[in-house]
Amino acid sequence: MKIKSICCIGAGYVGGPTMAVIAKKCPQIKVTVVDINEARIAAWNDENVDNIPVYEPGLSDVVAEARGRNLFFSTDVDKAIHEADMIFISVNTPTKTYGEGKGLAADLKWIELCARQIARVSTTDKIVVEKSTLPVRTASTIKSILDHTGSGVNFQILSNPEFLAEGTAVEDLMKPDRVLIGGDQTPEGLEAIQSLVDVYAEWVPKDHILTTNVWSSELSKLTANAFLAQRVSSINALSELCEHTEADINEVARAIGSDSRIGPKFLKASVGFGGSCFQKDILNLVYISRSYGLDEVADYWEQVIKMNDHQKKRFAKKIIRSLYNTVNGKKIALLGWAFKKDTNDTRESAAIYVTDHLLFEHANVAVFDPKVREEQVFVDMDYLNTRSSEENRKYIDVVEDPYEACKGAHAIAIMTEWDEFKTYDWQRIYDNMLKPAHVFDGRNILDRKKLKQIGFQVYSIGTAD
Ligand code: UDX
Ligand code: ADP
Repeated sequence: MKIKSICCIGAGYVGGPTMAVIAKKCPQIKVTVVDINEARIAAWNDENVDNIPVYEPGLSDVVAEARGRNLFFSTDVDKAIHEADMIFISVNTPTKTYGEGKGLAADLKWIELCARQIARVSTTDKIVVEKSTLPVRTASTIKSILDHTGSGVNFQILSNPEFLAEGTAVEDLMKPDRVLIGGDQTPEGLEAIQSLVDVYAEWVPKDHILTTNVWSSELSKLTANAFLAQRVSSINALSELCEHTEADINEVARAIGSDSRIGPKFLKASVGFGGSCFQKDILNLVYISRSYGLDEVADYWEQVIKMNDHQKKRFAKKIIRSLYNTVNGKKIALLGWAFKKDTNDTRESAAIYVTDHLLFEHANVAVFDPKVREEQVFVDMDYLNTRSSEENRKYIDVVEDPYEACKGAHAIAIMTEWDEFKTYDWQRIYDNMLKPAHVFDGRNILDRKKLKQIGFQVYSIGTAD
């Protein structure tokens, strides 16, 4: 089937950029992105493309080009489903916070709602593509809901996992290492796979488009993220060892990274990985493994998460210990709130957990991030539910100027590797801080030597002092 009209349910960090790029590359296809969140859709439709709700380098140009031509954002979910030949499900699948599988399994409530809505509205055959990160075998759940509508409509379910990383989403979408499409190995399934291959083939070389059965595709997504996260946890585990020896983690990373079998990527020691995918996907893997009675497999992957939690906590403890074991009433400036640079996404950001720990010790935290808004910081902290939102507001101050954030502070913690932090006037910052002035570089981005010359006490991850 030649696809003429695509609908994407969910206008978030995945749905928005992915559909913008499909629309740019396939002007003959009408692409409609729908969401129940009216404010979000209004922001995508904002006349000024700089106000779209997802910050990604290059994204506003893509949206400016395609929006109104063949790219549309709407809250009319039913209409978009009705019109489409192909429907992407790109809604959020957070980890369950209640009941069976609490803290591990993905909450599929939203996925099920979507499937039911598609079943209710559709009058013509559709290809449904799961785009959210979903635990293995979700496609069969979606299929079962869709197949029991009794409307005579045929549905084909494909799995097309997203491998874009935030901050480089547009580039990743324009030049993907690979596109993965899983579908039923039946004649109808293979035909559906081909329809989606044809969409991507407009700009992706054919040999970069891999097709598999549905379950391999679903599992590959979880596994890719688990492997990447494992590398970060491995290097972070070694960073602690380096701090107790004369080894330097940056040198170790360079040395092992130049082994072509290992390669240089994902070896940056940090205060811990964040983001919406790594933790959730590994927890899913753990949950699935356990549910098949594979305890050793589950324990193996769970350790990646434990290491990450340890790294975040260890960083917060380091701050407290260096400030004479008390941060009560002391001002600590946090530079960066996003889970990594070039995104305004804060899900699972290490900054949240480090702040939580500092607040338990009654520190005053001043937060500055170039792209994250004040409300988001409080949403993130309130979501933890470890103290009242009044208390969060009492101890945390979100400021719009980095120099203001650092003024009168005892310590600065670098939480996100934003490039602009490197170019700040660190002498000026030092002059306005209480002494001794500390910098805790949770991303190893600052010039340690230069800061020390200015007079700072410097802690970098994985370097002994
Ligand atoms: C990830 C996957 O890379 C992507 O393929 C998938 O589709 C979604 O999940 P993302 O969460 O956007 O993408 O970010 P990624 O660049 O993978 O980084 C994840 C976390 O690990 C960030 O907090 C990052 O700062 C941290 N990280 C990454 C390190 O601490 N060190 C590194 O060397 C690399
Ligand atoms: P991701 O990073 O996976 O894209 P986001 O949370 O950024 O996750 O985006 C998911 C979007 O899906 C949200 O904007 C949310 O409002 C939307 N959404 C969730 N459920 C539905 C639904 N049933 N119909 C339409 N939109 C939905």
